[in-house]
Amino acid sequence: MIAASTTVVAVIGDPVRHSLSPVMHNAAFAHAGLDWAMVALPVRAGDGAAAVSAARTMGVAGLAVTMPHKADVAAAADHRDATVQRLGVANTVVFDGGAATAYTTDGDGLVDAMVSAGHDPAGARVLIVGAGGAARSIVEAMTRRGARAVTVANRTVARAEECAACADADASVGAIGLDDVGDVAAAVDIVVNTTSVGMAGTDSEGALVVPAAALRPEHLVVDIVYHPLQTPFLVAADAVGAATLDGLAMLVHQAVRQQMLWTSQTPPASVLRTAALGALGLADS
Ligand SMILES: NC(=O)c1ccc[n+]([C@@H]2O[C@H](COP(=O)([O-])OP(=O)(O)OC[C@H]3O[C@@H](n4cnc5c(N)ncnc54)[C@H](OP(=O)(O)O)[C@@H]3O)[C@@H](O)[C@H]2O)c1
Repeated sequence: MIAASTTVVAVIGDPVRHSLSPVMHNAAFAHAGLDWAMVALPVRAGDGAAAVSAARTMGVAGLAVTMPHKADVAAAADHRDATVQRLGVANTVVFDGGAATAYTTDGDGLVDAMVSAGHDPAGARVLIVGAGGAARSIVEAMTRRGARAVTVANRTVARAEECAACADADASVGAIGLDDVGDVAAAVDIVVNTTSVGMAGTDSEGALVVPAAALRPEHLVVDIVYHPLQTPFLVAADAVGAATLDGLAMLVHQAVRQQMLWTSQTPPASVLRTAALGALGLADS
């Protein structure tokens, strides 16, 4: 029950009413028996810094941050962890004694999801398709956590090059266009779709960003799109016998890291996943 004693965290975004963060985080708080609650607060584009200031004033304990505020919030925070300093974006704020510290849990969330599914990217050759905000945090985290070689493929090659520049200094990275994606896919261990291709309700619904013929049974195929949960890309990967990881895995594990930052406790990922699946009207698998 929410009471005067309840510690409040909020997810901010524009739009934000579709966010799965409140159901995941509130399930985790309830599971841990914590007197905490998350609400979703619509914050207009351009008001991210004002939202940090307002949250600090009102004693909000932390923020989860979605589009379009990730860069504004990173800039507005009093402190930034090393990854936020490198990428210039944040998806999490912790308020401690009035000071706001910004973190980003997206890329590490995906790597955690892979590790917990038995697919540590350390030492692996990885193809990352897409070069947007999500891809940048994934390239940074995968190379920091030991991926042997990463190739970024994108429709706009200049963006692939910018994304590859987010890699850890010691990593082997390259950037290509989508024309060569099939050849490269055949020579890697892990293929990750970070584009919105295949997402329900878009022009590319039903489309594949990597030709199905390039997929192998030895691959781990990851899609960070989670609507639908079984994207066309994952269906094609499953058909050739490849291991797959759906987009909810990343969403859940980045939220687990947010819980650790806010509460210093680690909730079971399964609690958050079950809550998210329930909100999506899907059964657990
Ligand atoms: N599971 C999770 O936790 C999680 C987290 C974050 C994001 N996501 C999902 O990941 C996707 C990307 O998010 P983002 O924030 O990185 O978006 P973004 O910054 O807008 O980047 C979009 C990417 O998709 C590419 N793209 C879009 N339409 C395409 C098409 N028709 N053909 C080929 N490439 C296309 C873009 O290529 P260009 O550069 O050429 O335009 C770009 O690389 C979204 O579906 C989002 O919902 C999931």
